[in-house]
Amino acid sequence: MNDIAYANNLQSIAKTQIGSLPVSSPGSENDTIAIVELGNKIFRDINLSENRIQACITCHPLNGRSAGMDRQSTSRGTFGQLGKRNTPTILNIGFSNVIFWDGRRNQLYDQAIDPFINPLEMSLPSETELIQRIQNDPTYQEYFINAFPEDPNPTLHHVRTSISAFERSLISNSRYDDFINGNLIAMTRQELDGLKLFMEIGCTNCHSGFTLGGNGFGRLENPSLYNPNDLGKFEVTGDPNDRYVFKVPSLRNVSLTQPYFHDGSVSTLNEAIERMNAYGLNRNIQKQEIDTLILFLKTLSDKTKTN
Ligand code: HEC
Ligand code: HEC
Repeated sequence: MNDIAYANNLQSIAKTQIGSLPVSSPGSENDTIAIVELGNKIFRDINLSENRIQACITCHPLNGRSAGMDRQSTSRGTFGQLGKRNTPTILNIGFSNVIFWDGRRNQLYDQAIDPFINPLEMSLPSETELIQRIQNDPTYQEYFINAFPEDPNPTLHHVRTSISAFERSLISNSRYDDFINGNLIAMTRQELDGLKLFMEIGCTNCHSGFTLGGNGFGRLENPSLYNPNDLGKFEVTGDPNDRYVFKVPSLRNVSLTQPYFHDGSVSTLNEAIERMNAYGLNRNIQKQEIDTLILFLKTLSDKTKTN
């Protein structure tokens, strides 16, 4: 097969097996620019952490080439307290219906307030304190008037609505999508070999859909490989079958978001992929195939981000 025929063939298989990112997230129909701007302001406001040092953007950096996570194994909260989980990127989070590594939320609206009052993160004593700080800051006034002209009073509902609207606006744009959407030369022959392998050996069984993950859970076949300090979904459901069950992360932007896994315990993509041999693939991955898979995974990165 010549290169174009090969590309054509893979494009049609990947279109149905994986797909490409839509231009907007579900639920964003009523997200006006003013609502997103208010969410963006709140996301960056360090005054909304207990000691006025940390904002959402501290752990989820987005400016310029930053890809939405801080590259730490686990992050420190506003008082320097060490968390137990790796910070995921929030790029494309609007397409996920499993939120957090243990899936304790399934909607951004419900998640939006959690970090402010999480004692491992921004550590505010209460939701009331959050709203009071926003009310006491006169720079918010015009943002609320523009975002919610009929009812510009800061409320938890408005904070949830605007943060989730901002999060839904974070959609990446990759060479892989260019390829699926018609540009047959957007990916090289070797990158296409990686895409082919990715679909053949069963990565898509778990890293499924156009987000390549983010909407389901998985578990290692050999639990002894897990860190015993984190029981994953079990911590939410109490169901023994959920021990060491974690969210299957989206692989979009994955080459920019090391270290990997829920505990940030693996520092290279090579090692992360090798570990997938313990996840019930269609067959074992050979060492030399890992490089090919990495070439494909790199095409999933946003074209403007390098982290
Ligand atoms: C101290 C660092 C830190 C701060 C500050 C922080 N986050 Fe996070 N964020 C994390 C970590 C760690 C996780 C994963 C936690 C877990 O799974 O239990 C996470 C998870 C998330 C997720 C879910 C991602 C996924 O793939 O499931 C979203 C959305 C999110 N944060 C948004 C926010 C917003 C909005 C704020 C501000 C209100 C914020 N974060 C502040 C560290 C932080
Ligand atoms: C049985 C389900 C399953 C299959 C099949 C699977 N994965 Fe995963 N993958 C997961 C889960 C679950 C995690 C998160 C594990 C954790 O945090 O402990 C993960 C994590 C990853 C990570 C780290 C991402 C991050 O942000 O931390 C990479 C890279 C990865 N998988 C690549 C692959 C590749 C490539 C394949 C095919 C060779 C594959 N996976 C097959 C379930 C699966």
